[in-house]
Amino acid sequence: MAKTSLSRSVVQKPERVRVGLGKRSYDIILNPGGLDRLGEYLLDLGFSGKVGIVTNPILQGLYGRRVERSLKKAGFQRHTISVPDGEQAKNLRWISHILDELLAQRFERQSVLVALGGGVIGDMTGFAASIYQRGIPFVQVATTLVAQVDSSVGGKTGVNHPLGKNMIGAFYQPALVLLDTQTLRTLPKREWTAGLAEVVKYGMIADPKFFGFLESRIEDIINMDDTSLHHMVKRCCEIKASVVAKDERESGLRRILNYGHTIGHALESLGQYKQYIHGEAVGIGMVQEADLANSLGLCAEKVVARQRDLVRRAGLPTNLPPLNFGDLWGAMLHDKKVARGRIHCVLPKAVGKVTVDPLDQKAVKTWFRQVEKHQA
Ligand code: NAD
Ligand code: GLY
Repeated sequence: MAKTSLSRSVVQKPERVRVGLGKRSYDIILNPGGLDRLGEYLLDLGFSGKVGIVTNPILQGLYGRRVERSLKKAGFQRHTISVPDGEQAKNLRWISHILDELLAQRFERQSVLVALGGGVIGDMTGFAASIYQRGIPFVQVATTLVAQVDSSVGGKTGVNHPLGKNMIGAFYQPALVLLDTQTLRTLPKREWTAGLAEVVKYGMIADPKFFGFLESRIEDIINMDDTSLHHMVKRCCEIKASVVAKDERESGLRRILNYGHTIGHALESLGQYKQYIHGEAVGIGMVQEADLANSLGLCAEKVVARQRDLVRRAGLPTNLPPLNFGDLWGAMLHDKKVARGRIHCVLPKAVGKVTVDPLDQKAVKTWFRQVEKHQA
């Protein structure tokens, strides 16, 4: 389990971050303890009638009763739909199961789905909501750090295919995102630490001040100091909301959110999704992509050093595992960010500033040889 707070526990006021997308705009509500107010929040949005709670047995055991109680108090009819825990269930078979349940329970266009869980549950629920009767509203109640700072915001939904991760899906925005940071206290430590990679990412791609905040508060954050945690999650949501509002469908700016993911995804796939969990691979990916940027003359050595140091202090790995260049390059080519055969990689120019550039295989190979020597 993650370490619980050793410092004073401060009750944070509920706050909202708006994701501005015209008619599809929505609020992210940050409210420690807010799980108990879910019913009220749904009433505020004008919902009534049936609510389907999509979750897994772990989340159901931890938080299912509180969510149910809150919805009951607000007068909703509830139906829980459980899928197995883990990435293996993120597939069309379990989407089909969710749809079967919705049909059997006569869910209508006005009914609502609630995703109670991490990124897996959120991505699946959003996708099921996007296709059931051509689209019903859904709400993200995000319970992992990855989900609170990244996956619950922005409307990327979907499932995996045997031939590729996240290959089937839709852009479909939630009606609301509810973040109760208290739920992070029950997260397994490895999952919590992995989420910090996405947090560090926001500092590097968009906000040097936030990067500095993380450098000065990383120990407090690891110890789950309420004030630091609240500020951290809120700032990540603000940055993600602003990027998504400018480029919902990833035709330009949104690609910066993939910093660390070109090498990160390659490492995940080379390790057959067993060696690293996503955030761990992204931690290595960010350090290595910063190092690559330095080798390409895009950023100073100091930027790489700060990147490496913060990732290390967050408790994440920073070095490449033993591998050969051909395998790494091959895996990097097998990615959604490849356009017309060219790998487009997010590379830092400074802390808080990145560029997205096509990679030249020869230059990357030269960099890789230096890393091999250095890590030997
Ligand atoms: P996850 O959803 O698998 O959750 C990790 C583990 O923690 C699971 O075992 C889960 O049951 C458990 N868990 C969740 N909340 C808990 C809590 N509060 N207490 C105790 N246990 C808890 O993993 P994740 O990292 O949240 O999400 C990963 C998924 O998100 C991947 O499928 C990835 O593709 C997707 N993702 C999507 C986006 C997006 O923009 N849509 C962004 C990033 C990641
Ligand atoms: N997680 C990357 C994105 O939402 O675009």
